[in-house]
Formats: sequence, C-alpha cells, structure tokens
Amino acid sequence: MEGVTVLIVGAGPAGLATAACLSQFSIPYAIVERESCSASLWRNRAYDRLKLHLAKEFCELPHMSYPVDAPTYIPKTLFVKYLDHYVERFNIQPKYLTSVESSTYDNDEKCWSIVAKDMSKCTTVKFMAKFLVVASGENSAENIPMFPGLENFPGDVIHSSSYKSGKSYSGKNVLVVGSGNSGMEIAYDLATHGANTSIVIRSPIHVMTKELIRLGMTLAHRLPLNLVDKLLVMAAYLIFGDLSQHGITRPKMGPMTLKSETGRSAVIDVGTVGLIKKGIIKVRGSINKIKGNIVKFQCSKRMSFDAIVFATGYKSTANMWLKDGESMLNGNGLPIQKYPNHWKGENGLYCAGLARRGLAGIATDAKNIANDIKSVMDSMSS
Ligand SMILES: Cc1cc2nc3c(=O)[nH]c(=O)nc-3n(C[C@H](O)[C@H](O)[C@H](O)COP(=O)(O)OP(=O)(O)OC[C@H]3O[C@@H](n4cnc5c(N)ncnc54)[C@H](O)[C@@H]3O)c2cc1C
Ligand SMILES: *[C@@H]1O[C@H](CO)[C@@H](O)[C@H](O)[C@H]1NC(C)=O
Repeated sequence: MEGVTVLIVGAGPAGLATAACLSQFSIPYAIVERESCSASLWRNRAYDRLKLHLAKEFCELPHMSYPVDAPTYIPKTLFVKYLDHYVERFNIQPKYLTSVESSTYDNDEKCWSIVAKDMSKCTTVKFMAKFLVVASGENSAENIPMFPGLENFPGDVIHSSSYKSGKSYSGKNVLVVGSGNSGMEIAYDLATHGANTSIVIRSPIHVMTKELIRLGMTLAHRLPLNLVDKLLVMAAYLIFGDLSQHGITRPKMGPMTLKSETGRSAVIDVGTVGLIKKGIIKVRGSINKIKGNIVKFQCSKRMSFDAIVFATGYKSTANMWLKDGESMLNGNGLPIQKYPNHWKGENGLYCAGLARRGLAGIATDAKNIANDIKSVMDSMSS
C-alpha cells in the first residue's frame, strides 16, 4: 500500500499536464499508466500522416511552448518529441504497465483507495490518495457499432486507431465508416494510395479548412460566436461550394457553437472533398446490413468490399473502474457538468481532458486542478 497526496490515472497529455502543474507547486503526486510509455494514443494508435488539426498556439500544454521554428500544424512525430521533452523538463516519472482497476472513496479515512494491476509482475498494487485525478482519456476504448452480419465479414475489419497508412490497401475496395476528422483523412489516405474508397457519411458535418478554424478560434475571443459562425460558413461555401449534391450537408448549428455546445468538431479538409467532387471517393449513406463481402446500404444499394475501416470514435472507460464518482462522471465515463464546470467532483475528485476541448481544454483543466488542490492544501495547513 502506497500513500500519496495526489494520484493521477493516465499519462497522456492530460495526465502529464496535471503532473507538471502540480510540480510547479511542489505538490507530491504519483502517476500511473497502463501502457509501457506515455502518450500511447499518439505513439501507437495514430495514423502516419496525422498532424495536429489545430494551430500550435491552441495545442500547448502548460508551462512549455513549442520551439519557435515549429511548423504551425505540428506533425505527430514532433508532438511526441514535445511530450518527451515535457516529461523530461518536469521530471515526470509515470509508473508504467500499471492499470487502475477500481477506486473507491473511503469515508472513514477521508481518502481514495485505488487498486491497480502491475502488469509486468502480475501483482496488485494499492494506493491511498487524498486527491484523485481521472486523466484516462476520452479515447480509452474503441467504439465500433454493431451491424448484422459484421461478424461474418470475410475481409479486414479495423478501427481507425490501428490504421497506419493506405499502402497495403492499394487496388482494394475499402469502406470507411464515420466522417469525423479521422474518417475523412483516412479516406483521403486510402484513395491516394490507390484504394477504391467509399465513405459512409450519415450525419451533417461542417467541412472547413484548417486556416478557417484558426481564424474562427482567434476571432471567437473578440466577436460573438454566432457572428463568427456566419463568417466561417460563408467562407466555407465560397471555398467548397454546395456539397449537398455530393451527400454532405451542414448542421443547422454553426461550427463554433456546435463545438462549444456539443463538443463535436468541424471536419478539417485535407483534400478529401476534392476527391469526392471528382468521384474518386464515393459517399455512401447508412449501412443496413452486411452479408459476406456485400454491404447493403439503407438506400438499398449493395456493394462488395475487401476491407472496412471504422472511424467511429472512442469511449471513455473511467466509469468501469471509478466507483463513488457519481458527483463528477455519468454512466459513459464523461463529465455530468457542462464545461467550464466539469472538472471537479466531490471529495478531492477531478478529471482532466474529458470535456471534448482538445489540448487547449486539457491545459485549462490541468491548471484548474492544480490550483484547486493547492488551495485545499493551503486551507488544511492553516
Ligand atoms: C486522431 C486524433 C487526433 C487528435 N488531434 C487533436 C488536435 O489536433 N488538437 C487537439 O487539441 N486535440 C486533438 N485530439 C484530441 C486530444 O487532444 C487527444 O486525444 C489527447 O491525446 C487527449 O489526451 P488525454 O491525456 O486526455 O487522453 P489520452 O491521450 O488517451 O491518454 C490517456 C492515457 O490514460 C491511460 N489509461 C486509460 N485507462 C487507464 C487505466 N485504467 N489505468 C491506467 N492508465 C489508463 C491510457 O493508456 C492513455 O495513455 C485528437 C485525438 C485523436 C484521437
Ligand atoms: C469500387 O468499389 C465499388 C464498391 O464496392 C464498386 O461498386 C466498384 O465497381 C469498384 N470499382 C472498381 C474499378 O473496382
């Protein structure tokens, strides 16, 4: 049994940022991570051509800037380097291969009791912590919807987190399911590697350019969101034209408001729209069922595919191990309270990186949490 002041669960950007902010106040903490490295999502579960979607000024963690010569849109490898440097700078020492399995609040001792598995030794480790920070991510487990017949599909079925590049799909008929940033970019990557690519776009999306999103985020500091939204939608229309004839419609809510109200991001076009317009990438509607290689769509078209890539997002898994967290998280392991009041629960419980606000949201969560822990500790000692 190890007694610690703060236990942080997860050594992704959110856990690392929280650790750095705590160390600025010399508050002792321990940080545990189920994988054998920090930021495993970026190291092991992201495709090769991935760059940060947002400009670098919106993607910094607290207390450390990107090098001045860093490109505006940071490639994956550079982001991983930044995180390595971050870990070194703040001397963060995660306990790797340590997976938290349960945590309960001990009302008598007034602290959190956490049970984890040490996967290298196959033993159980226990922590007692005054404060508990959930930083296990919104992307903890893959989300793959079930379609009748999917289990018997004879081709490759993968989730976007296992997708690296389109190289091995050249000449194949591939269906991408999901039209978020990952799905749209993977479709582009497949098509440019010579795969015969289709993409399922079920719901309305805002297609934007990365420059427009950068402009929008900058203007949002000064102008009302609905005005910024109007500008962005107008500019996007000038750039992309009317995409409804290609099966892409816009949500009623503007892109900035949509992000702020629901956490849903606009899609930042990397060239996919151009290929859709040329008919190189085919847009499909909802899937109805699958039979052998044949996918039957709701519009009753049937087509044969060699592989399906599910870019259908992720789930939080914090609800599976966090007991007594009802003050903060719902049954899906996501915050009950809306941003910006989502990060604090009762009894010294916090969460970082669960409000669908990307790295900028992570940075504010980490600072808020460290400040709050500091003030609680100051008030206890005075
Ligand atoms: C493809 C992709 C691109 C993105 N691009 C951007 C972008 O450009 N800009 C931006 O701002 N945001 C982006 N995001 C969103 C977000 O910033 C990242 O997902 C970021 O990595 C989230 O950090 P995190 O620390 O909250 O979660 P994660 O990076 O998922 O880290 C959580 C860590 O917790 C560990 N963990 C989970 N459960 C346990 C457990 N029970 N015990 C121990 N450890 C556990 C996991 O192994 C993981 O290492 C992107 C997300 C994805 C998926
Ligand atoms: C591309 O894939 C679609 C869907 O499976 C199929 O209908 C079409 O014939 C394929 N085209 C070629 C050239 O293989």
